[in-house]
Amino acid sequence: NANDLSNGEGAVITIEGHRKGAYKDDEGKLHIVDTTCTHIGCEVEWNNGDRTWDCPCHGSRFSYTGEVIEGPAEKPLQRHDHTMLDNLTSEDS
Ligand code: FES
Repeated sequence: NANDLSNGEGAVITIEGHRKGAYKDDEGKLHIVDTTCTHIGCEVEWNNGDRTWDCPCHGSRFSYTGEVIEGPAEKPLQRHDHTMLDNLTSEDS
């Protein structure tokens, strides 16, 4: 569950059956992005060392706010605002 994340921690979670990426920043603010890479749609994974979302397919990398750090993707990950947080469930529940 995203509410269980410690500050500075990220994880893939499921919201209403959709795979999302959640990151809780050092001030406890949650950042939620869609985990579908904007290149051709692979699923990005959380990189805890660099605090980035990395795509396993062609190496695109995104910040926790979804901005492109490295291509080939050109568009940011879709962001979700905190209104989604009411519907959070953990990946394995
Ligand atoms: Fe993510 Fe190509 S699908 S880099």
